[in-house]
Parts: sequence; C-alpha cells; structure tokens
Amino acid sequence: MSNNIESILQENRVFKPSESFKKQANLSESDYQALITKAENDYEGFWCDLAKEKLTWSKPFTEGLDDSNPPFYKWFSDGELNASYNCIDRHLTDKEDKLAIIFEADDGAVEHYTYKDLHDEVCRLANALTAQGITKGDRVVIYMPMIPQAVFAMQACARIGAIHSIVFGGFSAEALRDRIEDASAKMVITANAGRRGGKSVPLKAAVDEALEKGGDSVRKVLVYKHTDDAVKLKEGRDVSWHDAIAGMSNYHDAVMVNAEHPLFLLYTSGSTGKPKGIQHSTGGYLLNAHITNEWVFDLKDSDVFWCTADIGWITGHTYVAYGPLSLGMTMVMFEGVPTYPDAGRFWQVCQDHGVTVFYTAPTAIRALMKFGNNLPEQYDLSKLRLLGTVGEPINPEAWMWYHQVIGRGECPIMDTWWQTETGAHMIAPIPGVTDLKPGSCTKPLPGIDAHIVDENGVELTHGEGGYLVIRKPWPSMVRTIWNDDARFVETYFAMFNNKYYVVGDSAHLDLDGNFWIMGRIDDVLNVSGHRLGTMEIESALVSHEWVSEAAVVGKPHDIKGESIFAFVVLNIEIPDEGSERMELVQALRNHVAKEIGPIAKPDDIRFGSNLPKTRSGKIMRRLLRSIAKGEEITSDISTLEDPSILDQFMQPNK
Ligand code: WTA
Repeated sequence: MSNNIESILQENRVFKPSESFKKQANLSESDYQALITKAENDYEGFWCDLAKEKLTWSKPFTEGLDDSNPPFYKWFSDGELNASYNCIDRHLTDKEDKLAIIFEADDGAVEHYTYKDLHDEVCRLANALTAQGITKGDRVVIYMPMIPQAVFAMQACARIGAIHSIVFGGFSAEALRDRIEDASAKMVITANAGRRGGKSVPLKAAVDEALEKGGDSVRKVLVYKHTDDAVKLKEGRDVSWHDAIAGMSNYHDAVMVNAEHPLFLLYTSGSTGKPKGIQHSTGGYLLNAHITNEWVFDLKDSDVFWCTADIGWITGHTYVAYGPLSLGMTMVMFEGVPTYPDAGRFWQVCQDHGVTVFYTAPTAIRALMKFGNNLPEQYDLSKLRLLGTVGEPINPEAWMWYHQVIGRGECPIMDTWWQTETGAHMIAPIPGVTDLKPGSCTKPLPGIDAHIVDENGVELTHGEGGYLVIRKPWPSMVRTIWNDDARFVETYFAMFNNKYYVVGDSAHLDLDGNFWIMGRIDDVLNVSGHRLGTMEIESALVSHEWVSEAAVVGKPHDIKGESIFAFVVLNIEIPDEGSERMELVQALRNHVAKEIGPIAKPDDIRFGSNLPKTRSGKIMRRLLRSIAKGEEITSDISTLEDPSILDQFMQPNK
C-alpha cells in the first residue's frame, strides 16, 4: 500500500531548472518560446532556417518539405552536402587540435584522436574503400566492436556516399547473413574480435559463417585486427584493414550527395518476423542529430560527452557517430561493459575523462543502482552537469537515484523519447526550460507535432491512454523500409489513412501537457532497452527440429524492463522433468542465441501439448502473459479450445 502512495507522490514531483543551469543554457525560455512560435506559424520555414544555419551545404537547397507523394516525404531535396564533411572538415579551421574521440578499451587502455587525426583516419579509409571498388550508393555492412575504427568506418562510408548498415556485434552469424542479404551488401567491415568484460568476442568467425551459406552479394571483407586473436583471411575476398590503408593519402575530397541520398540503413525489429531496414536520409537526419545534441544535451565547446550506446543501435548513430561530431564536440567511446572489472566502471570512466554530459539506458541505471551508493561515491563525478536516458520509460525510483547519487541532486535528467525510425529525440526536455517529472519524457521538441489519439484518430487531451502519433513530417524521419515501400506504408501510416506517422507506442498526457509513454501496442518486446520482435524469437524457436509451435511474450523484469518468456509445443514427447528437460531448455535457448543473438535468449521456456487458442485458431496471448507473470487466470476462458493446456504451461521446469 505505502509503495503505491509513494509512487503517486513521486509522479507529482516537479524539478525546475536551476538558476545556475539556466544562466549558461544553450536555449533560454525566450529562445524556446520563439522556436515554438516559429514552428507553429511557419513550419517549413522553421526547419529550413535551421538547416541553413546548422549544416554546411555544397549546394544550397531551395525546397523545404516536398509532400507531393505522402507518406514518402522529402526534405531539402535539391540541396547537396556530405555528412562526413559536416562532422569533420568544417571543424578543421578552428578545432584541428581539439579532441574528437577519447577512447577507453575494455582493458583500460586509452587512446586520443583530435579532429585532425579523425580526418586523416577517415580519409585514408575512404580512399581504401574506393580502391576496393566501393562507390556511391553501395551498401556496406559494418560488424564491429565499440572502437573508434567503427566510427571511422561509418564516416568513411558517408564520405564516399556509400550506405552503411551496422549490425550489432552481439547478433549471430544467421542474423548477420539475413541483413547482408536484405541490403545486398557489397562489403562487410569487421574486426577479428572485440573485447567485453575481459573476454574476447569473435566477429570475423561469424562473418565467415554468415558468408559460407549465402551473402553472395559480398565482394570484399575488410578486417581490422583489434586483438591478438589469430585471424584467417580468405584469398581474394578478405583484405586486412591495415594493408588496405597502407600508403593511402590522408586527403579525400568528400563526395557531395543529394540531401535525400540514404546515409544509412539500420535494421530493427517489428511485429512480423523479418527485421526492417530503416532507411535514413543525409540532410534531414543530420539536422535533427545536430540540433538535439545542442538543445537537449546543451552541448558546448567545453563539454566532454559520453553516450554509452553501442554503434549497433540508433543511439550509437545519432549520439556517437554523427551528432556530437557535427557539433565539433569531444566525446568518449568505451568498449567494455558497466560491470567489469567491477560495477564502478562507468563512474571511473566519467571521472578519468572528465565527462560532463552522460547518456545511458534505464536498464543500466537499475543494474548499477543495485550495487548501492558506495561505488559511485568512490569517484569524483563533480564535472557531470547533465544526465540523459533512453530506451524505455525510466521508473521514478531509478530517476531519483540517477539524479541524487550520480547527479548530486544538481544535474537535470533528460528522459529522451525517440526511435530508430525518428532518427533523433522527439519528446524530451530542454534542460534550461522544461520542468521535469520523474518518469515522463515531458514535451515534444520545437517542430515535433506529437499527439495522442484514440482508435478513430481523435485527439485525447489528458488522462486516457491512446496511440502516440506524429502528425507532421519532420526532417529526420524514416524515408522507407529498404526494398519494401508497401511495408513502410502499412507499418507506420495505414492505421490512420496515411495521415499520421504511427509510432507503435501508447502514451497518455497529464494536465501539464507532459507525455508518459506506457508501452508498445504491437508485439515488440523491450529487453534492456533493445527492441526484439516476438515473431522473430518465435521463428527462431520453430526453426529448431523439435519445435512445432512457439509463442513468446514479455514478462516485467526489475532490471531488464522485460524478460522473454516462451511457450513451446514440441513435435517429440515432452521430456520428463529432470536433467533431460533442462537440457532441452538449454538447447532451445542456445538455438535462439545462434539464430538471433544472446540478447534474444528466452529467460523461461514452458512446454505444453498445444498453444492456448480460440476456436478460430487465434493464440490467446493475454492468457500467456498472465501465466508468465504467475497470475491466477480469472478471465473467461470459455472460447479456449482446450483449457487443460493452461495447467501444463503453468508448471515450471524442474
Ligand atoms: C522505447 C531507441 C519510454 C519506445 C532510441 C520506442 C522509450 C522504442 C524511450 C524505440 C523513453 C525509447 N521512454 N520509452 N525515453 N525511449 N523508448 O528503435 O517503445 O531501439 O518506440 O530506439 O523504445 O526503440 P529503438
């Protein structure tokens, strides 16, 4: 009881920007109001002015928004620019010797790269890619550890107009192959291995496995030797990064591309099995990446920014590889994990590199909070001035801990709501302006037309939950799903007759106009801030020779947000309780890890002779969710074909 009351009280707690923060903020209350008013009165002009002011164009645009073919919107589409030029070259006049990247490896080794160093590394690699036959428009899959070379690879692709598609290093060979094939990638850039928590993570071996049975479009594999692990190069196909850049010039004339030229694809989970290749543009994407770093993170020349996300996720694109660099910032990159050698690692990195602005996920905060205040208190975190979170709603308890223990009760917390598809922050506080409420991502940024509607598209003002939609197109929005325009329209726009972009989250508004994200409306799980489609995991399970059917649901989890709970029907007899059953559970978990990656391993697997279905054959997921939560089933199960199978699924494996 007391818990409930407490959480209600917490939700009403309001944190106003401090006077000292306001004084130095990039955006003041009046700047913010001016932006809001401008966006309301002249939407297109609002974005065009920003695009002119913030980005460097080789050919200025004359067109703002092209909405002649909804929902395929274009922005600045007769302009030309290069993303890498905007992230590097334009800073060389005054920031040549400024640090661009401070890198800390898993084993603690530190490397520094100035803007000049970054320029030289990226140019050499761009020249090497060209020499290997990669040209504008080619797709290059990057499967790398979280090391500076990953950013060099992204920037080098952008520099020559090649379209990169990063596959998270934790994904399996099968998942990698699917993505290579969907994108028809011509090259894969990888490393022999990565290092995480003192262990070596083989990457090149997975690329070999992926290309053994497919991926025929791949002509070259570029291999960076990052660890001492041995690496075998395949004649004719594999090229060592080291050899490829040897003798290459550190000069490269960035290839200017149309603003709508795809900068990258990033595959993400949806409610159906196949991952979607989210296609982003160059000009529009870069604009929102730039301004959100400036507005929401308040980044300034003197800051040291650290976003802990891996480059395999959108956060590692917008808040590592592009946004901070487009602003000429110094940023930290970290290869390791938060708990190695101990759970003070994040705080040690913050201290040692003088991090001022820190961005991480609620799941990491919850995990580190469990270790108590003792660890963070051992480090000097006094330079921190702003903290951010992303990936899922942050529970007020974790928000308060982050604010008080990490942020000394002084750092504002930016709870940033956005998605792979939106490219950059959409609903998030402006630190010198917005009143914060723990657990709410607060208000849409200037120019973002976010609303909550009911199933008929009627706007809901406050109280009730509904569908979160974005009514007007914005520059960094997803352009299409690679090779699948029809799925793009169906997934994001069909629900309200192509009028609104449908986010896929439910949300509600409070009386002060703050947004509270409630969860997904589709079959997507949010496990440790990572999006996983239930269908993907189900397909992986069914691809095991002994599985005939599977249904996957999410179960609330203290640290991960959601854990994965699988219900499986076998085509063999269910093994008796005991070691045989446990071995099968383990085998199925490993099978999913092999098909998708360890992050998709079900935490719990239950067996039954059939899935609970209605007489019309629909799986009753509601019941499965109740079983996963260990709730008693009180609802009506009369439409269920065979109610007795619920008992089978309720039995934990022993
Ligand atoms: C969820 C990550 C609540 C949401 C940038 C969204 C959040 C999905 C928040 C996108 C937040 C992200 N509060 N929920 N601050 N941030 N989400 O594509 O469900 O990996 O639709 O992008 O994460 O996940 P994605």
